[in-house]
Formats: sequence, C-alpha cells, structure tokens
Amino acid sequence: MSYLEDLFSVSGKTALVTGAATGIGRMAATALMQGGATVLIASRKGHDCAQAAEELNALGTKGRADGFGGDVSTEEGIAALVAEVRKRTDKLDILFNNAGVSWGAELSEFPYSGWAKVLNVNVTGLFHLTRELLPELERAASDDDPARIVNLGSVMGTQPMADGAYSYTASKAAVHHLTRTLAIEFAGRRITVNAFAPGPFQSRMTAFATASDEQAAHVGSRVPLGRIGAPSDIAGATLYLCSKAGSYVTGAIVPIDGGQSVQHGMSLFKE
Ligand SMILES: NC(=O)c1ccc[n+]([C@@H]2O[C@H](COP(=O)([O-])OP(=O)(O)OC[C@H]3O[C@@H](n4cnc5c(N)ncnc54)[C@H](OP(=O)(O)O)[C@@H]3O)[C@@H](O)[C@H]2O)c1
Repeated sequence: MSYLEDLFSVSGKTALVTGAATGIGRMAATALMQGGATVLIASRKGHDCAQAAEELNALGTKGRADGFGGDVSTEEGIAALVAEVRKRTDKLDILFNNAGVSWGAELSEFPYSGWAKVLNVNVTGLFHLTRELLPELERAASDDDPARIVNLGSVMGTQPMADGAYSYTASKAAVHHLTRTLAIEFAGRRITVNAFAPGPFQSRMTAFATASDEQAAHVGSRVPLGRIGAPSDIAGATLYLCSKAGSYVTGAIVPIDGGQSVQHGMSLFKE
C-alpha cells in the first residue's frame, strides 16, 4: 500500500450517506467509493437512490454502492431506515448526515410550515438518526480508527446571512452546535463528529441559482476564491475526515466555502 493510500484509504469501511442520490451527498458517496468503501445511499425517493447506486457502481471504483428508500423527517421513517441499514450491515464506520431541505420566502410571508419542515429534517432527523445508529457506530469504533460522523452544516450557519432562508440558517447553526456537543460526548466512545460548512455547490437545492454556467459564474464571483465549489472540494474533505488522516479530528466545522466564512465588509483604517 502506498503512503497516500495508507493515509487516505477508506477501504473495507461501510458508510451511510443520506440524500446521496443528488448533490453534495453524491459527491461524498463517490469519494468514499473511490477510497474503497461500501456506501449505503438512502433518501425519500428510493428508486432514485437505487439508480444512483447503479450509476456509481458502473464507474468501476474500488468500492460498492447500495441504494434504497429512507425518510428522516418522521420517527417511523427513521426507524424504517435504521431497519434497512441493519439488514445490510451490523457495523457502521461512517455516518454522513447529508439529507437536508431549505425554504425561502419574504420575512412577512414566511410560512409556519416552512420553519417546522426545515428544522425537522435538518436538525431533528439528523439527531435521531445518529442516536439510533450509535450501536452500529460503536461496533466499528476503535482507539486507532474511530467511527466517523460527518454532518452537513453550511456557511449560512456561520455567517449572519439568510437570503430569505430563515429556518435554513437557524437549522445549520443548530447543526454546528450539535456537532460540537456530540463530538465531546462521543469522544469516549471513539466516534468523531465533524461538520462540513460548505459555500455554494451545484445541487438540486441550489439549482435555482447555480444550474447554468452563467449562474454558477455569477454566484462564484461573490466568493473570495472566485468560484463555486467543485466535487473534488467535497471529495478531499470527505476522505480526510473519514480516513486515517482525520482520525484525531473531532468537533471541527470545516469551512469548504472559498473564504466566505472570513468574508466581511469592514475596514476601519483604509479608505
Ligand atoms: N449545495 C450547497 O450549496 C450547499 C451548501 C451548504 C450546505 N448544503 C447542505 O448539503 C446537504 C445536501 O444538499 P444539496 O445541496 O446536495 O441538495 P440536494 O441535491 O437537494 O440534496 C438533498 C438531499 O436530501 C434528501 N432529502 C431531503 N429530505 C429528506 C428526508 N426527509 N429524508 C431523507 N432524505 C431527504 C433529498 O433526496 P429525496 O428528495 O429523495 O429525499 C436529496 O437527495 C444539505 O444538508 C444542504 O443543506 C448544501
């Protein structure tokens, strides 16, 4: 095994990535498969997950994918998803809490349901799925190679900008704080807990603003590094946090945002 393989391989590991038929979840799942992992892909549209798994398996990576239905928005949905996971594995090395939804509206018209739905999937679902899968994570955990949880936060959970997505920004700030509280609580169980705080990436959620090249370039021009995120940006952070390379990192909110988390409009002494 080469030095790089030894450091960044996830070979032999089993991961669950929620919401991985599309967007950032799919980018993470692809990276884990390139690194040699078996990746379980689950979201509400089970057919899309099965199809995504088929497409990812056809890439000929070292890993393997298995896609099926799973809904993290209800207690019953989480129980059913956990049962599906348990049919396939008795240990989980990596839990990628990626499933998420957003809602945008003017403040004066922001619907009650648009708050509840987003908090429910992004925070409540993440918390309870994690809690339910602790036995599987603990079974995979060791001193040398902890089990890994990666939560999807957002730069919008760090920076005070809402762009009309009030419940979304609040939910992502909650994800960041939950990541830190669980990180210290789970350290003794040899489970690391970290979060990604991405800037803009192409996905179904951001298609309204990033789908075309022109739109992507326009949004990218607002980012300090001058572009939107690419699949390799997610892949690198995924393999880092989930391999030997990241085994001593916990409680981190990783800014994968081209500098947006340090962006500000202030200048005290220059014109
Ligand atoms: N793209 C960005 O710029 C960006 C930036 C920062 C953070 N994020 C975060 O990254 C994560 C992935 O989002 P994305 O941008 O890749 O958008 P996306 O393509 O819309 O992906 C979201 C995924 O979540 C799944 N999902 C939604 N509700 C679910 C539920 N109740 N149960 C299970 N799965 C559910 C969806 O699949 P189904 O419809 O089949 O359920 C979908 O595959 C989210 O947490 C998002 O907040 C994205």
